Amino acid sequence: MTDPAPARLVVLVSGSGSNLQALLEATADPAYGAQVVAVGADRDGIAGLDRAAAAGVPTFVDSVKAYETRDDWDAALASHVAEFKPDLVVSAGFLKLVGPAFLAAFGDRYINTHNALLPSFPGIHGPRDALAYGVKIAGATLFFVDAGVDTGPIIAQVAVPVLDGDTEEALTERIKVAERAQLVEWVGRLVREGWTIQDRKVRIP
Ligand code: GRF
Repeated sequence: MTDPAPARLVVLVSGSGSNLQALLEATADPAYGAQVVAVGADRDGIAGLDRAAAAGVPTFVDSVKAYETRDDWDAALASHVAEFKPDLVVSAGFLKLVGPAFLAAFGDRYINTHNALLPSFPGIHGPRDALAYGVKIAGATLFFVDAGVDTGPIIAQVAVPVLDGDTEEALTERIKVAERAQLVEWVGRLVREGWTIQDRKVRIP
C-alpha cells in the first residue's frame, strides 16, 4: 500500500519565523506526514518570508493597509490561503486577528501557538506580562483559534520555569525552545491521527 499524501500546511507569520523553521525541518522527513505548501505574512521584509523562500516554499503577503477595510483584508487572506487547499492552517507568530470570512473558511482547522499558559496572559506580550505578574511557571499553549483573543480550545501546553533575574528576552527565548518542540509534535499528531473537539476538549484518537 502506498503512503497517504502528506497533509497540506499553510503557515502564517509576522516575524522571525523560528516556529516556521521548526516545521520546515520536521516536514523534510516524509514520515512526519505533512508538507508546508505556502507561507503567508501580513508584512514584507521579515525573516519568516526569507526562511520560506530558502526552503522553496511559495509565499504571499496580505498587508491590512493594502485593503480598504479590515473585512476586505480578511476575505483576501482567506482566499489566498484557500488557493493552497490546506488541511491545517498554522499561525506561528502571526500578529493579526483574523475575521469572520477567514474563520468561516478555516475555523475548524486554524491553530495558533501562544507564548503563555492560557487562559493567563493572552495578547502579544505573554512573557512580559507573566514576568510582571511574578509567576514561577510560564510556557506555551497550542490551540484552535476561535473569534476571541487566545480563547479557543487547547490542544497542548508546555511549562518552563521562570528563573530569578529573568529578563523578558531570556524568558521569551526559554519559552520559544519548548514552544517549537510542542508545535512540531502536535501538528504532526493532528495531521497523522486527526482530532475531535467537544465541549472545548480537543482529543486526538
Ligand atoms: C512565538 O513565541 C509566538 O508564541 C509569539 O511570537 C513568537 C513567534 O516567534 N506570538 P517566531 O516568529 O516563530 O520566531
